[in-house]
Amino acid sequence: ETFDATGLHILPGAIDVHVHFRDPGYTHKEDFESGTVSAAFGGVTTVFDMPNTIPTIADAESLKAKHVIAQSKAHVDYGLYAVIGDDTIDKVPELVEAGIIGFKCYMGNTFGRIPSPSTGAMLEAFEVVAPTGKRISLHAETNSIMERRQQRLTDAGRTDPLAHLASRPAVVAVEAVARAAILAEWTGARIHVLHISSGAELRPLAEAKARGVDITGETCPHYLMLDETDYLRCKGVVRVNPPVREATNHEPLWNGLLDGTIDMIATDHAPHTPEEKTRADIWAVDCGFPGVESQMPLMLTEVAKGRYSVSDYVRWSAVNPAKVWGLYPRKGVIQAGSDADFAFVDLGKTWTLKDEELHSRSKISPWDGREVTGLPVHTMVRGRFVVKDRELVADTKGFGRSVHVIQEMPTPEPKHTDETLAAVVAYRPEAAE
Ligand code: DOR
Ligand code: ZN
Ligand code: ZN
Repeated sequence: ETFDATGLHILPGAIDVHVHFRDPGYTHKEDFESGTVSAAFGGVTTVFDMPNTIPTIADAESLKAKHVIAQSKAHVDYGLYAVIGDDTIDKVPELVEAGIIGFKCYMGNTFGRIPSPSTGAMLEAFEVVAPTGKRISLHAETNSIMERRQQRLTDAGRTDPLAHLASRPAVVAVEAVARAAILAEWTGARIHVLHISSGAELRPLAEAKARGVDITGETCPHYLMLDETDYLRCKGVVRVNPPVREATNHEPLWNGLLDGTIDMIATDHAPHTPEEKTRADIWAVDCGFPGVESQMPLMLTEVAKGRYSVSDYVRWSAVNPAKVWGLYPRKGVIQAGSDADFAFVDLGKTWTLKDEELHSRSKISPWDGREVTGLPVHTMVRGRFVVKDRELVADTKGFGRSVHVIQEMPTPEPKHTDETLAAVVAYRPEAAE
């Protein structure tokens, strides 16, 4: 099989550890097919799917049903999350047995309205999960703070888009991160802080790391590149939990990535329909927007601007996610001679993101019309093209596999030609570390 990689850089396929593919239950927003096609066009070769579907992934039965769906529809590899909360503590063994990438703990309320565990239940959950070695990913926001804020804002008659931000000030997240870190320290549980949205969260995160807590963190392009002025520009579309904040957070978040306090980039890909995103109600639950397809172009644009190197980007998009979830070096590297996950990107290509061109079922995002530099041209999953020359390759639906299955597969035989290898070995993230 021939293909043209002239002028392209070969990066490890990105691993997006935080997507909502909505399947089953909300397939009018997205399903495993549209979500994974969108990922493939974004140079993303592995996704971890969140459990706030219908049913919620909270026992072996619901998990196995989602595995059947994902395996029949996925174009890229995936891991599935299960919820950990009051009602699932005794389900931990069966969930681990049925194949999960990790647990998701909804400390704060968001789409899907999964009840948040009390601190007491969290402590028990962390005690039970710790010996399994599975990581607990946290939606770190504290309900008791934001519920009071929302009530006061409602009483004051606020109906403007910025009220959503006002109801969830950074302390909502800071308090939750600090509390979760204490529980992790106490129990030895491994935890991951999802969607870090403020500079203020970096202090409890860095302090916990310094104490030896096994804690990692991610931020998303919207927290790095959007700010409070975007609420006026695109109204409800930018509404996401936790909220996009004041521009003063950008520099601390970039620095957190560069100094390693924040380990990785994820997207919180959260598709909704245009009707859902443009409801007049500022407290509508349809928060978030698609992101899995635009992450790589957005982040590579900063490489083009000289903010950081392509090696930095690869560390945040592929190497660290693979290491943190135990997939390294099967994923997250370019291994000469092995069948791996590649994104072939044109680092110099300037183009415009357009919502209507997204492969997600959701075609409404705050990125519409944004100029970016960096285009994924071909995407390869375990040695097989899924996207080639910006076209979806036929018969790749159902090729994606759960990473818990992949880990049991034999090491694949080298299949590349010498010519491909020359290009492959030209870029080694290891060498840059
Ligand atoms: O804005 C959000 N949307 N935040 C979340 O935590 C959940 C997500 C969703 O599922 O829509
Ligand atoms: Zn969340
Ligand atoms: Zn999320």
